[in-house]
Amino acid sequence: MVAPGFVFGLVLPLILLADTSADVAFRFASYINNYMVLQKEPAGAVIWGYGTSGATVTVTLWQGQETIMRKVTSVKGHSNSWMVVLDPMKPGGPYEMVAQQTFGRTNSTLRVHDVLFGDVWLCSGQSNMQMTVSQIFNATRELANTAAYQSVRIFSVSLTQAEQELEDLAQVDLQWAKPSSENLGHGIFTYMSAVCWLFGRHLYDVLQYPIGLMSSSWGGTPIEAWSSGRSLRACGVPARGFTQSDSVTGPSKHSVLWNAMIHPLHNMTLKGVIWYQGESNVDFNRDLYNCTFPALIQDWRQTFHWGSQGQTDRFFPFGFVQLSSYLSATSDDTFSQIRWHQTADLGYVPNARMPNTFMAVAMDLCDRKSPFGSIHPRDKQTVAYRLHLGARAVAYGEKLIFQGPLPENMELLADKGLFNVTYSQEIRVQRQDKIFEVSCCSDRQCKWLPAPMDAFSAHTVALNIRSCRGALAAVRYAWTTWPCEYKQCPLYHPSSTLPAPPFIASLTDPRRGKHSELAE
Ligand SMILES: *[C@@H]1O[C@H](CO)[C@@H](O)[C@H](O)[C@H]1NC(C)=O
Ligand SMILES: *[C@@H]1O[C@H](CO)[C@@H](O)[C@H](O)[C@H]1NC(C)=O
Ligand SMILES: *[C@@H]1O[C@H](CO)[C@@H](O)[C@H](O)[C@H]1NC(C)=O
Ligand SMILES: *[C@@H]1O[C@H](CO)[C@@H](O)[C@H](O)[C@H]1NC(C)=O
Ligand SMILES: *[C@@H]1O[C@H](CO)[C@@H](O)[C@H](O)[C@H]1NC(C)=O
Repeated sequence: MVAPGFVFGLVLPLILLADTSADVAFRFASYINNYMVLQKEPAGAVIWGYGTSGATVTVTLWQGQETIMRKVTSVKGHSNSWMVVLDPMKPGGPYEMVAQQTFGRTNSTLRVHDVLFGDVWLCSGQSNMQMTVSQIFNATRELANTAAYQSVRIFSVSLTQAEQELEDLAQVDLQWAKPSSENLGHGIFTYMSAVCWLFGRHLYDVLQYPIGLMSSSWGGTPIEAWSSGRSLRACGVPARGFTQSDSVTGPSKHSVLWNAMIHPLHNMTLKGVIWYQGESNVDFNRDLYNCTFPALIQDWRQTFHWGSQGQTDRFFPFGFVQLSSYLSATSDDTFSQIRWHQTADLGYVPNARMPNTFMAVAMDLCDRKSPFGSIHPRDKQTVAYRLHLGARAVAYGEKLIFQGPLPENMELLADKGLFNVTYSQEIRVQRQDKIFEVSCCSDRQCKWLPAPMDAFSAHTVALNIRSCRGALAAVRYAWTTWPCEYKQCPLYHPSSTLPAPPFIASLTDPRRGKHSELAE
């Protein structure tokens, strides 16, 4: 028989040890892995994970045999988490990162290899962001075009929901990887986003340094699911609204995707976000979208800034795709309203309510024959091209044209029966007689009438308004679900081939004056 005292002496410390360590294995956060891209200078990348409460953690960055940097921290008692902020790094790599935990006489070591420094972009939204490279035009060729882009690394978050804000991802679909036709073409609406990938490819062509792309999207989801409780309350979104809308097929409950698919990333350092969402809000809290969207941008920025110890810019660049078009059974203007609300009702971005944002207009990229339904147009190349122009201007400070022509001035030439709309840029015009409309009022009844193009010059379109015998109350452009055929809208900027975005302007509201506030 073994003496009781001996057993006691041997077992008790082990029990105490097990208690304080709370069974939390030493590990990195779920998205810190081989092949990842960490945010480059001027920001410092945040590295974090879990471990044994009270243990010391040393994070070392290696290149070959050379130690580049060493950071020491300890595991916090309450959360069992640890975090270090790396010194700002120039773009490049590859590096090896080693984290070692020391607790008493026990050491544990974690290694990740082939880590690059560059710009990290998060891509989120619904199915048009989720669509994969296998689903787009020229898919075979696009899937094969990865050899030159081995420094553009990809990562995809699993479809998960949660009632509470999670600290780490519950599941990852595609762990950080070099691009290949297999992981880019994994399936239909699964894993890597085509818009995200093509956007990153364009950025790499311009910047020539590593780009990290994190895809976190879910089809058929309204903005409420991606918003925190704070931003929904700020917009007065009714608690747990009903969702009997055909356009909502994914989770719609408040904050569930924010909690599970975005919040867990808030401790990392990011360059910016791109977003393609809005179709599911066409019949769901539509009139609030001019609040919920700017609020989401503001809230994500604040949360990522705090979560990264101030490393992610407080006003990080946020790009988005304005809704494209689809074959709708109804002829209402709900799609147009979402497009307008996506700009906080100003028609262009960036603007005072949406600083440091950029937008890809996509209403002319329709796709009648898309096998995934016309709501899922297959030309994602042009979407990504237009988005990357916005990123170059807004996120990278390049001087280039990234917006299409914006209405700058309007003039009623009553004696001639004309209404002149002057644009901020040169315009390339293709005549289309129904795309401009005027609201014509008599006896307090107003009606939208087509205002055919009478003439045009380098900057100005003269609209024929002779069919209106009353007073003009408003004018609008491209205010339908399907305003034009593929790349055939009437107004483009000639050299950039960027389309003029849709607009609506009241002519009676004195605050609107000469509409000069329509353009910056
Ligand atoms: C644990 O790591 C420390 C610091 O690197 C080292 O001094 C010590 O010898 C290691 N202990 C064991 C048991 O490997
Ligand atoms: C948002 O749009 C709704 C509906 O068009 C409008 O009534 C409201 O005034 C707008 N709110 C803001 C903040 O622009
Ligand atoms: C993530 O950031 C939040 C907000 O700053 C902070 O409370 C939390 O402790 C951070 N997580 C880790 C693992 O450090
Ligand atoms: C697909 O490839 C053809 C032939 O090169 C090209 O003309 C077309 O623009 C491509 N489509 C897209 C959407 O990039
Ligand atoms: C109105 O637009 C037409 C066509 O561009 C132009 O010829 C005309 O001079 C404009 N009128 C005024 C008063 O600007």
